[in-house]
Amino acid sequence: MGSRRVCLARVYYERRNTLKRRFVLASLAILVFAIGPGCGGAAPTATPRLQQTKEAVVPATAQHALQEQITAGMQAYDQFCDRCHGPNLTDGSAAKLSKAALAKYATAQGLFDYVAATMPKGNPGGLSEQEYYDIISYLLFKQELLEPGQAVDENTAGDVLLSQ
Ligand code: HEC
Repeated sequence: MGSRRVCLARVYYERRNTLKRRFVLASLAILVFAIGPGCGGAAPTATPRLQQTKEAVVPATAQHALQEQITAGMQAYDQFCDRCHGPNLTDGSAAKLSKAALAKYATAQGLFDYVAATMPKGNPGGLSEQEYYDIISYLLFKQELLEPGQAVDENTAGDVLLSQ
């Protein structure tokens, strides 16, 4: 087995890390370093293993933050949007917030701009910026327009594309 393949295997596992996989990753890291100086010719030391552990924790934290955002968005939606747009987004008296309707806005930022400027109808701009981003996150999650682990905030929303 060439060291290049070992490198690719490491990259693959690092990308797919979850808390559960941290143990698998740790074993893999030990294996990689036991096999020899692969991956850029670095000699096996304790430092790369520490870095890997850190990388394994970061995506798990991001996932947690996203779930909190979706939950906060759901609560804000129930409070401010539900009565017109309905509990399932498409079953209210007002416009249906279907996948196609949301996708028209091209990016999460485009949707944010529209919603923050016009909704809730009768009280446009009445929510905090954070509440609007949370609601957008919830809407996109519900209509399967959000990549897993994607947070929606002022830094990321312009890059969240809403293609169906
Ligand atoms: C009082 C009723 C009412 C409330 C509350 C309300 N909306 Fe609306 N919404 C409407 C109506 C009516 C429309 C159709 C466009 C218009 O009349 O401005 C609409 C349109 C929309 C659209 C555009 C849909 C499209 O097809 O382009 C979005 C997105 C939207 N609302 C999101 C929200 C969100 C998010 C909230 C909560 C923060 C909210 N609305 C609260 C009545 C409401």
